[in-house]
Amino acid sequence: MIPSGVVTVSYIVATVLFILALGGLSNQETARRGNWYGIFGMIIALLATIFSENVTQNFGLLIVALLIGGSIGLVLARRVQMTQMPELVAVLHSLVGLAAVAVGFASFMDPNKHYVGIDLTIHDIETYLGILIGAVTFSGSVIAFGKLSGRIGGSPMLLPARHWMNLALLIGAIWFGREFVLQSAAGGGITPLIIMTVIALLFGIHMVMAIGGADMPVVVSMLNSYSGWAASATGFMLNNDLLIVTGALVGSSGAILSYIMCRAMNRKFLAVIAGGFGTGGGTPASGGGEEQGEVHPIDPQETAALLAGAKEVMIVPGYGMAVAQAQHTVFEITRVLREKGVNVRFGIHPVAGRMPGHMNVLLAEARVPYDIVFEMDEVNDDFPDVDVSVVIGANDIVNPSAQEEPDSPIAGMPVLEVWKGSTSIVLKRSMATGYAGVQNPLFFKENTRMLFGDAKETLDEVLKAL
Ligand code: TAP
Repeated sequence: MIPSGVVTVSYIVATVLFILALGGLSNQETARRGNWYGIFGMIIALLATIFSENVTQNFGLLIVALLIGGSIGLVLARRVQMTQMPELVAVLHSLVGLAAVAVGFASFMDPNKHYVGIDLTIHDIETYLGILIGAVTFSGSVIAFGKLSGRIGGSPMLLPARHWMNLALLIGAIWFGREFVLQSAAGGGITPLIIMTVIALLFGIHMVMAIGGADMPVVVSMLNSYSGWAASATGFMLNNDLLIVTGALVGSSGAILSYIMCRAMNRKFLAVIAGGFGTGGGTPASGGGEEQGEVHPIDPQETAALLAGAKEVMIVPGYGMAVAQAQHTVFEITRVLREKGVNVRFGIHPVAGRMPGHMNVLLAEARVPYDIVFEMDEVNDDFPDVDVSVVIGANDIVNPSAQEEPDSPIAGMPVLEVWKGSTSIVLKRSMATGYAGVQNPLFFKENTRMLFGDAKETLDEVLKAL
C-alpha cells in the first residue's frame, strides 16, 4: 500500500499526461507521442489506484478482472479493421456508460455507506446523475454500434409525436430522480432508481434511432462526450479526483468535437439530438436511390492518361478508400505524378469515412506528406482551376444535391465541389448510394467519368499504366 500523498501526486502526474495526450492528438505529427502520454498516464493512474489505501483486500479478484478486461481489449484492438474503428469506439463508449450505471447501483447499495443528512442528498444526486448519463450513453452507444455496423438500418426512425415523447421521458426521469432522493433519505429509493434507469435507457435508444445516416458523426462525438460526463459523475460519487478530471477532459473535448462536427455538417446541435434533422420536417428521407440519366465509364488506362496530362489534380478520398485499403497505391500514384511535375493535392471532408480524422489517419499511414493534405474549406474554392479530381470511394461528401435539393436528407451539408473542375473521375464498385442512402447527381454529369471496380484494384491498374 502507498501513502495517500503519493497517490495524489500520481493522480496529478496522470492528469498532466492526459492533457498532454489530448494536445498531442490534435496534430498528425504529434499524435503518436500523444498516444504514449495517454498510455503512461493510464498506467500510472491504474497503479496508484490499485495500491492506494482504498484497496485493502481482494487483490486476486482485481488482477483476474484486469487480466480478463485487458486481454479482451488487446484481442479486439488487434483484430479490428480500420473500417470497423467507429464501431469499436461506439462499443467502448457503451462500456463506459454501463460501468457508470453499475458503479452507481453498487454505490447506492453499499452496506458500509456512511453518508447522512445533506451529504447523503449530495451523494444521491451524484449517483442519480452518474446512472442517468451512464444509461443514456450505454443504450445510445449500443444503437450507434448497430447503425455503424449496418446491423440496424441507417434511416431515421421517426415516431409520431417523438418530441413530446422525449419531453415526457425527460420529465419522468426528473420526477423519479426527485422521488429517489426523497425516498433514499428515508432508507429506500431503489424502485424509483430502477424506473429512472429504464427511462434513461429508452431515451438513449430513441435518441439515436431517430437520427439519420448523415448525422451519425455528430452522434458519435456526442456519445463520446456523454461517456466523459458519465465518468466524471462517477468520480464525484466515488470521491475520486482523477476520474472527475479525466471525465471532464473527455466530456469537454467530445463536446468541442460535436460542435466542430455540427459546423462541418451545417447542423444545429439541438436539432440533431431532437432527432430526424434534415428529413423535410418529419417525412421520411427522400431522394432514394433512383438513377438520374446516363453515366460515362472510363478505364484505368484512360484515367492514367488524363492524370499524366493534368497540371492540377485533386484527390478526394472517402469511406471506400478505407474499405479497399487503397491508400498505399494512392501514395504511389501521387509520387509518380509529382515526379512528372503534376501538382497533386488532397481535399479532406470533415466527415469523410466513418470517424473524425479517418482519412487523415489512412493517408498518414501511407506516408502521404502532410503539406499536400488540405481541409475542405482550404481547397473548395480552387476546384474551377482543377484539371482532374479523383474521387476515391467517396459519395455523400461530393453530392451536389446537398446544395441543390432542399428536401434531400443531406441538404445544407457542405460538400467538396468537384463538379466545378474540368473532369471528375469517380472510383466505386457500382451505382450504389453512400451512407446517407441518397443517389448522387455528380455521377450523371457531363464532365464526370466513372471508374468502376474495387478502388485498390483499379488504382493498381492506373499505377501500372502510369
Ligand atoms: P459514403 O457516402 O459512405 O460513400 C462511400 C462509397 O464508397 C460508396 O458509395 C461505395 O460505393 C464506395 N465503396 C465502398 N467500398 C469500395 C471499394 N472497395 N472500392 C471502391 N469504392 C468503394 O462515404 P463518404 O463520401 O466518405 O461520406 C461519409 C458518410 O458517412 C457521410 O454521410 C457521413 O455523414 C457518414 N458518417 C461519417 C462519420 C464520421 S465521424 N466521419 C460517422 C458515421 C457516418 P460502391 O458500393 O458502389 O462501391
